[in-house]
Amino acid sequence: MRNLFYKKDLSGSGGSFERKLGLLDVTFIGVGAVIGSGIFVITGQAAATMAGPAIILSFLLSGVMIAIVALIYAELSSAYPVAGSAYSFTFASLGEMFAWFVGWNLLLEYGVATAAVATGWSGYLRRFLENSMGITMPHALSGAFSPANGTYIDISAFSIVLLIFVLLAIGIKESARVNTVIVFIKLIVLSVFVFVGLPHVDFNNLSNFMPFGWEGVWHASSLIMFAYLGFDAISTVAEETKNPRKNIPWGLILSLILSVVFFILVSFTLTAIVPYQELNVPDALAFALYKVNEPFAANVIALGAVITITTVMLVMGLGFTRILFALSRDGLITKSLSELHPKYNTPFKATIIGGAYTP
Ligand code: ALA
Repeated sequence: MRNLFYKKDLSGSGGSFERKLGLLDVTFIGVGAVIGSGIFVITGQAAATMAGPAIILSFLLSGVMIAIVALIYAELSSAYPVAGSAYSFTFASLGEMFAWFVGWNLLLEYGVATAAVATGWSGYLRRFLENSMGITMPHALSGAFSPANGTYIDISAFSIVLLIFVLLAIGIKESARVNTVIVFIKLIVLSVFVFVGLPHVDFNNLSNFMPFGWEGVWHASSLIMFAYLGFDAISTVAEETKNPRKNIPWGLILSLILSVVFFILVSFTLTAIVPYQELNVPDALAFALYKVNEPFAANVIALGAVITITTVMLVMGLGFTRILFALSRDGLITKSLSELHPKYNTPFKATIIGGAYTP
């Protein structure tokens, strides 16, 4: 009879992929997954309705919790530098049955997150096209299949997810290169927000610092947790990373430090330049710069959000394919999903499944 608690010895595992990623690649994979719709969309709404300017404390509190989790990931991924992340760690420590549950949960997380961020992204794109260029997308093509509401397909979300999985099929180095370029743009866009915003700081906006008390701060902190999600995807590419025992833990730590610094700077600037009550809008960063009469920078932020949220989908999609690969290699799902493409060295069948499942 099959032993459901059989623990896998990971010491001889790995070695399926070529090691192509360095420290910068993995750090930016983390930042690519973390900084996304959370900071661009949720921050303003959470400040307006839950925490006020004390949203900065919510970011700090969630950051401390996430740092504890990240240190655990760092420890485990340096002990077991294999594909599969928490799924593989569970297989080695608690056994096959628990690993199976964790593996499928991770697939759900990465699959649903890719689709959810794609939907949010498509909304952001439509607003950007309408507000900045006067282009309106046909209603029928702007929502999931719901004939009663007159929508048949969210064509932009569908197309971006397909494009991302094609890129993932072509190669890890190519995907990481595109991610690195977009993450650079992302950090520049957020720096533009801070530098253009800071001269407009009005300390009166901060005078009612905690309008909803500590309860509001904690409440916002639970929502803000979404903004930190995704850094764990770094550990799914351990087998494709050079010197993973060093680069994966450092990638986790550095990406988290970078994300916390940007979250704090951006949330401070946002609530210091516009009264928090006005921030309950889906594009708060661009809105705030319009309010302080910086329309050019506001357009840069709006376009920057559209371009840069794509990396969240890219990294979540990447995580999905690597977890599917690891489950398949261990025989917990059909073996053929762990075949690597002879030329691209990517798990192309797992990637096709990801491309078909997430849209
Ligand atoms: N942390 C990711 C984001 O904010 C999921 O979009």
